[in-house]
Amino acid sequence: KVVGVVFGGRSVEHEVSVITGLQIMENIDKNKYDVVPIYINKEGKWLTGKSLFDFENFRDNKLEDTQEIIFAPTHNDFNMYTYPNSLSLFSKKILGKVDIIFPAIHGTNGEDGTIQGLFELMNIPYVGSNVLASSVGMDKILMKDVFKANNLPVVDYTWFYRSNWIENREYVIKKVEKELSYPLFIKPANLGSSVGISKAIDRNTLISGVEIAIRYDRKIIIEKAVENPREINCAVMGFDENLETSLCEEPLGWQELLSYDDKYVKSNMKNGGEERRRIPADIKDDLREEIENIAKKSFQVIDGRGNARIDFLLDEENKIYVNEINTMPGSIAYYLWEGKDIYFKELVNKMIDIGLR
Ligand code: DAL
Ligand code: MG
Repeated sequence: KVVGVVFGGRSVEHEVSVITGLQIMENIDKNKYDVVPIYINKEGKWLTGKSLFDFENFRDNKLEDTQEIIFAPTHNDFNMYTYPNSLSLFSKKILGKVDIIFPAIHGTNGEDGTIQGLFELMNIPYVGSNVLASSVGMDKILMKDVFKANNLPVVDYTWFYRSNWIENREYVIKKVEKELSYPLFIKPANLGSSVGISKAIDRNTLISGVEIAIRYDRKIIIEKAVENPREINCAVMGFDENLETSLCEEPLGWQELLSYDDKYVKSNMKNGGEERRRIPADIKDDLREEIENIAKKSFQVIDGRGNARIDFLLDEENKIYVNEINTMPGSIAYYLWEGKDIYFKELVNKMIDIGLR
């Protein structure tokens, strides 16, 4: 069988996605599957070619041998004529022979249901969450609405449109201050990797934070900040009622955007940056069990599939809040599964198996 791994993408998490994609390609069982790399560059061009297997080629910008894949849903001959040196995405030569797609894209246009919708339309199986789970998991407002409606613990929050802010800032400030007390977090509703997020301790910092966030999104969520929180993350894998949880980690020192160098040079992909996280997290068994149960339920209420990482906050009294679900976690959160004796190769295998079901 042939697995097409799609990575890169037009998102602020492009670099992280390249790393995830390369790691997945390296760990796919080559006795079982052939791999077709499909790289979406920052301009949104879809490319395929042998050079896309090597990190060095990305670092050195040596991707000359790649061929562009175009979307034209037309006859192959027409495409060849109109676009010399390109392959049609819909042609037999590309996706006609791919048995399953492994989307390895984080954030916009990859983790938000858009690319999943494309594969649904093309009738090609794909790994991971479907359109609905991906889009709900991406939108921090809808995600929290769904968690809350299912009695999962979330911090207090409110939200508004960019247009509300531009048209009547005073009204929005009053609404926020009436519903929530400082300190607060201001977040664009639809971005990953902490982009556009700031903390407000008073009205002035609220205003400056919203001004940043509205550059990134039409919808802004304001959350009550947990004081001195501990972060705990836990992954869930499976579908429907068949779910298992990974070990829990406690990230130590939050990373903003990871560059290639951060991931490859400083921590190198083999150790996954162990110094930045404690695995397993140092928490009591009953707390861990509660986190695992909430993780499974969070996955289930959005109808997740595949392997997702759920991020929690603990307050000073060890009260748990679900902060978010990442339906395509960085490096597919392989480091959380190793402690359960599921190593990267097996994790990739399992994810593909679930995708083919
Ligand atoms: N959005 C990043 C990649 C993560 O959550 O892992
Ligand atoms: Mg996220």
